[in-house]
Amino acid sequence: MKIRVFETASQAGLYVATLMEQVILNRESPVLGLATGSTVLPCYKAFIQIANRGLDLSNTVTLNLDEYVGLDSYHEQSYCFFMEENLFSHLSVRPREIHVPFGVSENLSEECKRYDAIIAKYPIDLQLLGIGVNGHIGFNEPDSLLESHTHVVNLTSPTIQSNSRFFRDISQVPQQAITMGVQAILQSKQIVLMAFGEQKADIVARAVKGQVRTDIPASILQLHREVTLVLDEASASLLPN
Ligand code: GLP
Repeated sequence: MKIRVFETASQAGLYVATLMEQVILNRESPVLGLATGSTVLPCYKAFIQIANRGLDLSNTVTLNLDEYVGLDSYHEQSYCFFMEENLFSHLSVRPREIHVPFGVSENLSEECKRYDAIIAKYPIDLQLLGIGVNGHIGFNEPDSLLESHTHVVNLTSPTIQSNSRFFRDISQVPQQAITMGVQAILQSKQIVLMAFGEQKADIVARAVKGQVRTDIPASILQLHREVTLVLDEASASLLPN
């Protein structure tokens, strides 16, 4: 696992945006695995600048990690809305295909199968990840077992609590989400996990330097050959030198 520590989140975001650019320049049909959350915002901001200087995205496919169950694409807190608002609507050339799990499907188990078929069709070249305060990646929550395929997950109370900052009140936070499973994440050719701020320092240290454990889902990234951890000084502060 490579670890890159930057002074600021915006420098870190620029670095990750250039990794995305490299994938797009070097692959005929690039596939980017995208994430949501405040952590990825500096990266998307930098990527918009790079892309709008003339990067050709017309062959690129994007796949998002997850979506809340019950929020449609017009809901301001849906991840579909987040992606439009923070990335896609700013691009002068949109990716050829954009995929986000459909959180208001009437048949969620069919939706999970449909999403797995998309992942199988488009193997991910570069997967971006944030990390939850409890170590979740996507919405793969700490548990005694980690599911390999796309599935519906009951969100844990630390996640609901943490994500409630984006909703009017905590009762509005969906209790469930659809998330890619750990297999799709681990099958990505390259993974970049970003974490910023001191509130992530403890979980970053436990995920990266501790044992691989299902109650710290991000720790499974230790099993992948091509992972880069992109941190700021605060989130790296508890890593041994
Ligand atoms: C959500 C997403 C995760 C993301 C996490 C961290 O729960 N499902 O993919 O990594 O939030 O969010 P933030 O970057 O806002 O700390």
